[in-house]
Amino acid sequence: MPNYHLLDFKAFGDLRGSLVSLESQKNIPFDIQRIYYIYDTKRDVPRGSHAHRDLEQVLVCVNGSCKVKVDDGQIVGVFELNTPEKGLYVGKMLWREMFDFSQGCVLLVLASAHYHPEEYIRDYDDFLKEVSGS
Ligand code: TYD
Repeated sequence: MPNYHLLDFKAFGDLRGSLVSLESQKNIPFDIQRIYYIYDTKRDVPRGSHAHRDLEQVLVCVNGSCKVKVDDGQIVGVFELNTPEKGLYVGKMLWREMFDFSQGCVLLVLASAHYHPEEYIRDYDDFLKEVSGS
């Protein structure tokens, strides 16, 4: 089983609009320590291209759409995020790339830890070596 999957969020919608609530250890499967968002992106300028040794994340496209490629060293999954009602859970030790950003895309990221640049793997060959245990 790959260590990534889509999450469905319940939306509370009424005549006023819609609301989604995200809570640690409820619909988000970890304690949220950090939130950041990516915006003012360009369709043909990908982001990401790294893995995290010790970080879990949930990515939610709260406006517009984008695609996310997730790679565990063997299986590559490609997801289109185009609704605030779905999130992509991305576990530890996964290479990821975000691309094909629509106009106005806002990508919200919930993370299980504070920002620690030393836990990133930024080279794909290093990632493949670490993930295969060699
Ligand atoms: P970067 O990792 O390049 O973004 P992406 O994963 O989308 O390609 O981060 C861009 C800049 O923001 C870089 O200078 C590091 C900084 N940054 C923080 O200071 N804190 C954070 O939580 C994150 C994710 C990035």
